[in-house]
This record gives sequence, C-alpha cells and structure tokens, in this order.
Amino acid sequence: MATTAILSALAEEQQGLVERLANPVRVTRAGRDFWRGELQGHSVVLALSRIGKVAAATTATTLIEAFGASRIVFTGVAGGVGHGVHVGNVVVATEFVQHDMDASPIFPRYQIPLYGRSRFACDATLTAMLLEAAREGLTGATGHFYQNSPDQRVAVHAGLIASGDRFVSGATESRGLQAALQAAGFAPLAVEMEGAAVAQVCFDYGVPFAAVRTISDRADDQAHVDFPTFVAEVASRYALAIIGQFLQLLPK
Ligand code: ADE
Repeated sequence: MATTAILSALAEEQQGLVERLANPVRVTRAGRDFWRGELQGHSVVLALSRIGKVAAATTATTLIEAFGASRIVFTGVAGGVGHGVHVGNVVVATEFVQHDMDASPIFPRYQIPLYGRSRFACDATLTAMLLEAAREGLTGATGHFYQNSPDQRVAVHAGLIASGDRFVSGATESRGLQAALQAAGFAPLAVEMEGAAVAQVCFDYGVPFAAVRTISDRADDQAHVDFPTFVAEVASRYALAIIGQFLQLLPK
C-alpha cells in the first residue's frame, strides 16, 4: 500500500493525528520522531516539519528516503498577506515561491539557481482533494472563528504561498515583501517558513505534494500576539478536520 506522509508544522496539530493512529510505531531518524501506522485505513507516516526551510527539507527528504513516502501532505499555519485573506481563513497552496531567494544579478531574483524556475507547483489531484476536504471538513466548524463568510463557513482560498526564513511580524516588512514579489509577478496569499522547501524536495524526487495553511495572523505588527493564541485554540482542530476529510477522499 502507498504510504502517505502527513507533515505538520506544529506539535499541537500533530498530537490529534498521533492519538488516532492505529498500530503506531515511533521511529527516530535525523534527530526527529516519525510515527508509522494507519489512519482511516491508509498507511501513513506522521512527522513534524520543524521550523524553517532547511529543517523542513531534511524532514521531507527523510520521509521519502527512509519511509518511502509516495505523497506528502502538509498542514500548518501562515500569515495572510493576500487581499481578503483573514485570520481564521484557510489557504490551499497551488504553488510556492521562496521570498528570500535572491542570487541576483547572477540569476533573476526569486529564481532557484540551476532549476531555471522560481515556482514549484503542487500536485493538481492532491490539491483538488485538499480543497474539497477543507471546504467539507470545516463546514460548521466556525461559529466564533474570526472573519469568515456571512454564512459562517470557513473561507477557503487557493493560490500562491511564499516561504522564507523569517517570521513576518511587521506591517512595513510585509508591505515591502509583497511589493517586491508583485514587481516580479508574484501575488502570494500567505507567508510561512517551510512549504517551498518541501515543494522543492518533492519536485526533486517526483513525489506528489499538497499543502494547506490556516491563517493565524496578518503578518503585521499584531502577528506575534495572534500567533500563540491561534495555534493553541484553532489550528490543531482545523488540521485534524481537514486531514480526516482528506483521508476519506483519498482512494485506498
Ligand atoms: N507562520 C504563521 N504566521 C507567519 C508569519 N507571519 N510569518 C511567517 N510564518 C508564519
């Protein structure tokens, strides 16, 4: 059976998945804990990405090389930067860019040297399933959750996510980052610190990849305040609901 890797950015998100794992086996590799087992009849391996692009790339490589992951699905939180992307909304990634990659003037800004590309696309089939899972899995999950749609459904967006080794926590920084990206033709919906690295590793190995991020802050001066509260109260529940629905949609 194909092994699906479920990569969580936060321990709070992973905890619910580990608790639901049938026949759990913990394996330590590269200083990280990986959990093998079954979820809803699927063979899975669970891991924490750790924080930042390098750490996430190591985790993704280990998932593929040591655990034979045949697809990787990533859940986490992100700072919303796109117009109308509010705290409590969900963004399903269609592609990633590294907002801190700059080998200019040797290579165009944002281009990954020797790849001839700046964008790494997510797998279309997995992404469509993740979108459906987010829409279905979060129906009725809202109530008090922030600025969602008037009918209280969680707003789910799909688009570009920008990753970099910075927690973006200032309105001025966020505006500068967006302006520079926009000048190069990128319009990100959200910023985080790992997705583009995992997307690049998956590209290297030809492993399908999809990612979903719940918006924990607006990457502004309030970001550091919103973040811990949001993670504790909301992110773990969202991730669990989305992954539960995703595994229901995933063919066995
Ligand atoms: N993850 C969640 N919020 C973030 C932010 N503002 N910047 C980078 N990564 C994040």
